[in-house]
Amino acid sequence: MRRKLAAGNWKMNGTSTSLKEAEALAAAFPSPGCEILLCPPATLIHRMSGKLEGSAVMVGGQDCHMALSGAHTGDISAEMLTDAGASHVILGHSERRADHCETDEMVRAKAETAHSQGLVAIICCGEALETREAGETLAHVGRQIAGSLPDGCTGENTVVAYEPIWAIGTGKIPTLAEIGEVHAFIRAELVARFGAETGNAIRLLYGGSVKPSNAAEIFAVADVDGALVGGASLRAEDFGGIVSALENA
Ligand code: PGA
Repeated sequence: MRRKLAAGNWKMNGTSTSLKEAEALAAAFPSPGCEILLCPPATLIHRMSGKLEGSAVMVGGQDCHMALSGAHTGDISAEMLTDAGASHVILGHSERRADHCETDEMVRAKAETAHSQGLVAIICCGEALETREAGETLAHVGRQIAGSLPDGCTGENTVVAYEPIWAIGTGKIPTLAEIGEVHAFIRAELVARFGAETGNAIRLLYGGSVKPSNAAEIFAVADVDGALVGGASLRAEDFGGIVSALENA
């Protein structure tokens, strides 16, 4: 049985006053029936992990550098994330791939570094609308996961998030059949590459416009082990609705 994971990605949102949302979430789920993770901006990781100490809500980063340390102005290392209290890191989000020209090779190198520091890497993939319309979704996602996942992936250190770019922040989601098709494909690719035990242990999240109102039907799709949630993770009430749906899935 794979443990379910509700992961919130705050992106470039949140200042000190937002910490109360994290505290409210932790108070609402003292012993949740799934894992809960919040990935705030880097400036809040340390304070959030302090506030959430002893709670069931974990804290993660949104990116890390592939190098362990050095002359990389503005970047954050995997060790800095763990030192600040993070247990997870999102890597290769489509916004990082677009805004910072991150390639599969770079994401793979970052994941290796994250693993070396004991972080769980949440590695993202997903197609643009043109790719879906051209019927190239599976080929594209297959290339991304082949290139972005390092050989050392296990069910403990890696989570894969499927996030169609056209569904992120748009309110549009694929059909449940489309989500199921991509998740089944990713599962088969993971089993082919890492073997049945590891391939079946790596959790697969769906991301893109997940809300309390659509979460239950998405979580009922086979091979959906949880969600990576952007906008709806910013408020404890909304994210709590998604966590509840996952607990009951
Ligand atoms: P969204 O973002 O839930 O706001 O669509 C998802 C993501 O980018 O992780």
